[in-house]
Amino acid sequence: MRVLDIGCGMGDVSLLAARLVGPSGHVTGIDRDLVVIEKARERGLDEVRGADIEFVYTELLNFHADRRFDAVVGRYVLMFQPDPVDAIVHAAKQVRPGGIVVFHESDLATRIQGYPNGTLFYRMCDLIAETERCRRGLGEPGLAPDTLIHGGGTSMAHDQSRGPGRRRIRFLYLSMAYGHS
Ligand SMILES: C[S@@+](CC[C@H](N)C(=O)[O-])C[C@H]1O[C@@H](n2cnc3c(N)ncnc32)[C@H](O)[C@@H]1O
Repeated sequence: MRVLDIGCGMGDVSLLAARLVGPSGHVTGIDRDLVVIEKARERGLDEVRGADIEFVYTELLNFHADRRFDAVVGRYVLMFQPDPVDAIVHAAKQVRPGGIVVFHESDLATRIQGYPNGTLFYRMCDLIAETERCRRGLGEPGLAPDTLIHGGGTSMAHDQSRGPGRRRIRFLYLSMAYGHS
């Protein structure tokens, strides 16, 4: 199985994927930060011996696979894109028809609720959200389900809140159907 890890950082997800696909598989991790790519390369050599794994320094929208992948994965990367729909559509183009596209993201716009409130942990969550809000200048950080629903006509998002009061948890399910021509 061939896997592409978008915004791979220092390679945690790529290395996990390399262990899962085994020596007959292949993993490509891409990132626009050369420092983390170099670190990921060192780790790839040290930590998963015999794996066919490579790390490529590139902006994700500039990456075009020579041969399509069976799966594209990404963790904590869509949340940093000015247009996550563009990123998803581009990612889907790197996958074979019937392949898999999976992202694991964090929605900073929904404050984590818990008890007792007001602890250092919640203060830190608020500061992270505030930092992200200032950095982006786009209002609330996090994925915007409405944008995804309408973007490009290729994606759907289901946004649900579950549970009462303090224990309210927000789930964002993102699924998409993408037709290759
Ligand atoms: C929060 S880190 C996550 C790293 C890794 N996926 C993980 O979960 O450990 C986000 C990474 O995505 C990369 N990134 C963000 N936007 C990118 C883009 N447009 N093209 C390529 N890399 C990007 C950043 O350079 C950073 O290394």
